Parts: sequence; structure tokens; C-alpha cells
Amino acid sequence: MTASSQAKRIMTAAAAAAFGVLVLFADDNAVAQSATSDKAAASVTDEKGNMHIPPDYRTTYEFLGTWSVAGDAGQGAKQLHVVYTSPGTIEAFRKTGHFPEGAVLVKEVYEATTKDMTTGTVSREDKLVGWFLMVRDTKNDYAGNKLWGDGWGWSWFDAGNANKTTSTDYKSDCQSCHVPARSTDWIYTFGYPPLKQ
Ligand code: HEC
Repeated sequence: MTASSQAKRIMTAAAAAAFGVLVLFADDNAVAQSATSDKAAASVTDEKGNMHIPPDYRTTYEFLGTWSVAGDAGQGAKQLHVVYTSPGTIEAFRKTGHFPEGAVLVKEVYEATTKDMTTGTVSREDKLVGWFLMVRDTKNDYAGNKLWGDGWGWSWFDAGNANKTTSTDYKSDCQSCHVPARSTDWIYTFGYPPLKQ
């Protein structure tokens, strides 16, 4: 707790005692976390709900996990999917089991390349194909915008343009593929070790 929030708390408690009312304090931490997530959502969304990829996510976001998609023939991966989330999301998720309002998820899609190395047959990231982006929104802030619904903003961006989505409707472009993850707010949470306690 900061000195000023402590002072505020003492003053509120004194006022509450004077008027004989009971005051329940919100957890300072939870308030700070939701402010961080709101900032994350605002930094990738304009007033109409159009989203873009945050330019600095590789250095400022939290790393969640990687998915390897097996090649069609031979050994090694065809694609690697690398998932990041906005600051504070992991801590908030560990407390509540849910993504906080405003949390942003970025999934990079890479073509993979495979090579024999001293550890074995090793696939690594090669060409970036593009990004999937999701922004947590349980308040339905952009009703009428087809990129938003079911608790999220949903968008795909080709590697050439991180600012303009080429997806048009989350129901046809995204949702059917996320049905297996419906009970975990549409996110494949089992693939992300940092979310576990
Ligand atoms: C072909 C099926 C398919 C489609 C279409 C699809 N997704 Fe996914 N998505 C998945 C699967 C499966 C995963 C996790 C495994 C992986 O990445 O291979 C995933 C993971 C993600 C993740 C990482 C967080 C998570 O859910 O685990 C984001 C973000 C995401 N998708 C967003 C989108 C958006 C936005 C769209 C539409 C523009 C979309 N997806 C369309 C199947 C799909």
C-alpha cells in the first residue's frame, strides 16, 4: 500500500466511523491490476473498436506459451504459434481463474524451419505470417461491431500490416475453432504454464 492510499484509507475509515457505516475496501492490488489491463485494451483499440497489434509487445508483454503445429510430412513443425499477454494478466489470472477486463492476447504465427542440431531435430521460428489478437471485454463495449462479442474483441492481422485487420466477423472467422475452449472463456489456457499457480 502506498502512503497516500494508506492516508486515504485512514480518512475514509474515520468518516465511516463518524457516520456509523461499514466500509469495505477494494483490494489495492486488484484496482491497480484492472487499471493496467484497461490501459492495455485502450492502447490497441480506437473509439469504434478497431484493434491493432501493440508495437512493443515483444519487450513489454508477458510470455504465455508456444504451440508447435506438426509438419504434413517428415519430421519437425510446420508452424510455431507464440502467445503473449499484456502486463499484469498472469497475476490477475492466478487469483481469479479468469482474464481481467481489458487484457490483451497476441498470438504470433510463424512458418517453422527444421534442422538437425546437437539436441536433435529442431524446429525454430522462420517467417512471420501474422498475428491473432484478442481483447477482453465482458461489458460489450462495441455492440454492433462484428469483431466483438462473447467477452472478447477478435482480429487477425497479416504480417505486412499490424494496424489493419483483414478479419471481418469473429463468428465466422474465429469462434467455431475456439468452441473446444468455451469453458475457459474461449482461450486454450491449458497450453500456458505461467497461468498455473
Ligand atoms: C482453424 C481453427 C482456428 C481459427 C479459424 C482461429 N483460431 Fe484461434 N486458436 C485455435 C487453436 C487450436 C489455438 C491454440 C493452439 C494453436 O495455436 O495452434 C488458438 C489460439 C488462439 C489465441 C491464443 C490464445 C488462446 O486462445 O489460447 C488467440 C489470441 C487466438 N487463437 C485468436 C483467434 C482469432 C482472433 C481468430 C479469428 C480472427 C482465431 N483465433 C481463429 C484455433 C483457431
